Amino acid sequence: MKIVFATGNVGKLREASEILGEGFELVSLEQVGITEDIPETGKTLRANSLQKAQYLYEKLGCDCFADDTGLEVDALGGAPGVYTARYAGDDKDFNKNMDKVLYELSVLEGEARMAQSLGLKVKDKVSRRARFKSVITLIINGQVKMFEGALEGVIAREKSGNGGFGYDPIFIADEFPGLTLADISEEEKNAISHRGKALRAMAQWLQENSK
Ligand code: IMP
Repeated sequence: MKIVFATGNVGKLREASEILGEGFELVSLEQVGITEDIPETGKTLRANSLQKAQYLYEKLGCDCFADDTGLEVDALGGAPGVYTARYAGDDKDFNKNMDKVLYELSVLEGEARMAQSLGLKVKDKVSRRARFKSVITLIINGQVKMFEGALEGVIAREKSGNGGFGYDPIFIADEFPGLTLADISEEEKNAISHRGKALRAMAQWLQENSK
C-alpha cells in the first residue's frame, strides 16, 4: 500500500518506513513533485498536522499523512509549542532556538534567586520539566484519523551531544537520565520518541483497518 508522507526529511521517512514495516510503501514530497512549503498557519499541533494532510489530499487525492511536533516547557507556559520550529526567528536556526529556551529559563531562575536573596517569598523552584508532542493526521480513503505521542523530560542546563536534530541537545528524556537526546543513539531515541509513539499508533491502526 502506497502512502505519501508530508516530509522532505530522509531521517523521518526512514523511521516511519521501519515502523510501518512491510506492506507499506512510503513516498516523500519530492517523489510526488511537491517542492513548495506546505502552509502551517494553525494555532495548535493538531490544526497544523490536519492542514498539511488536507493540503496534500486536495492536491494529490491519494492516501497520505502529515506530522507536526512541538516542545512544551512548563516554566515558559507551554512555549515554544506550536512555534517550536521558529521560536527565535523565521530562519528556523536550531542553535538560536535552543539558546532562546536556555536563556529564558536562566532569566526566570535568576529572578527567583534575586527574589529569595531579598527575603521575598518565592512560589516554587523554576521547573525545567518539558515534553515533546507529535500529532499525525492520516487521510486514508478520504477518512481522517489522528494519532498522538509524547515524550516527557527536562531541559538540560547546557547543550550536549552530536546526534539527533532540532532541540535534541537540550532535552533529557526521563528514560535516559543525565543524557540528552543528542547523546543517545538513533535507535534508542526512536524507541521512546514522541514521533515513534504516534507512528506506532498509526501503524497499529493501519494493520487493523486497512485489509
Ligand atoms: P516538525 O513539525 O517535525 O517540523 O517539528 C517542528 C520543530 O520541532 C522542528 O523544527 C524541530 O526544531 C523540533 N523537533 C521536532 N522533532 C524533534 C525531535 O525529535 N527532537 C528535537 N527537536 C524536534
